[in-house]
Amino acid sequence: APIVHVLGARPNFVKAAPVIRALGAAGAEQAVVHTGQHYDERMSEIFFVELGLPEPDVNLGVGSGGHAEQTAALMIGLEREFTSRSPALVIVYGDVNSTIAAALVAAKLHIPVAHVEAGLRSFDMTMPEEVNRRLTDQLSDLCLVTSPEAIGHLANEGVPVARAHFVGNPMIDTLLANLDSFDTAKARAAFDLPERYVLATMHRPANVDAPGTAAALVRHLHGVADLADLVIPVHPRGRATLLAAGLDEHPRVHVLEPLGYIDFIAAVRGAAAVVTDSGGLQEETTILGVPCLTVRPNTERPITITHGTNRLVTFEELVPAARKALGGPDGPSPAHDARPPLWDGHAGPRIADVIMEFLGEHGVAA
Ligand code: UD1
Repeated sequence: APIVHVLGARPNFVKAAPVIRALGAAGAEQAVVHTGQHYDERMSEIFFVELGLPEPDVNLGVGSGGHAEQTAALMIGLEREFTSRSPALVIVYGDVNSTIAAALVAAKLHIPVAHVEAGLRSFDMTMPEEVNRRLTDQLSDLCLVTSPEAIGHLANEGVPVARAHFVGNPMIDTLLANLDSFDTAKARAAFDLPERYVLATMHRPANVDAPGTAAALVRHLHGVADLADLVIPVHPRGRATLLAAGLDEHPRVHVLEPLGYIDFIAAVRGAAAVVTDSGGLQEETTILGVPCLTVRPNTERPITITHGTNRLVTFEELVPAARKALGGPDGPSPAHDARPPLWDGHAGPRIADVIMEFLGEHGVAA
């Protein structure tokens, strides 16, 4: 019986690559189900190619839609897949709609679930991701956590601590494994970037869905562009509202299409600072030592503040914080030993060990 990986959205691909590789090295039988939540070539296929991910065994082609519509379509497609493949275990990643859909379907079919990146909490139930995280963890037999405080969050919600395993951060495995490929000079030439720039990404519903909020955000981003060139690869979500608000009408704003993984991290590595509302980028900038201003009222990744370069800012705080970040590092840049514990490039093998041991204990061969 195979271990089935359920992948749906861009950040899933980055987290799964080292896990699939490590389970392959352990000799496990595996299958990859792509839900099709992300489907544009630049949101999906390019990541499979660059990260050496195996071609998905199936793509469910679920696509976009409202939460109910998308989650329902995901569940219907996944139930069919799990029924026909009889997985020994299903692995889900992160906090996207594909994650909760797969966990819910597997649990009802009595298939064990392993959740990679369990236990993160923003305590903000207005974020769809927070709903997805909490419910996925309740349904998971193995909660694989990137950060020690996650175990406390799980315990507070009644998840037995025996289910939780602190394994480190597989997204950072991918980052460290590809470090030599992130060529800042090449990215500068390819995208015609200036020597000094701030890199921005914005896609949270709370920041980009409402036209009025998007317009306010654009005003503050233009304020940052008054300080330094602003390079912004635009996620399909928010493209319309941000451009309608005149994002590209500032002479120092460079709007790009979504980038592949290698070009994107190369651009991040070369940035003087990052402005974002992404989750993963808070972690990647922490390891790359690039100052990160996160335009959100909270973060499920506080370790990137205590052990990294991240700082939360309101719209109003963005320009002053950018001025400070561009003036030089806030303090000494994080030393190697200030890295979050176990963000060392070896999370994938630790996850594989936990999973193989679990399957062994349950008498299932994968
Ligand atoms: C999803 C995740 C979010 C994650 C993000 C990473 C959920 C609830 N949200 O948000 O946590 O940070 O992925 O990128 O799962 N679209 C395209 N092409 C695509 C995919 C999406 O054009 O390949 C457009 C569609 O208009 C779609 C919109 O983007 O309606 C939103 O896509 P969706 O998958 O629903 O959520 P994301 O905002 O991408």
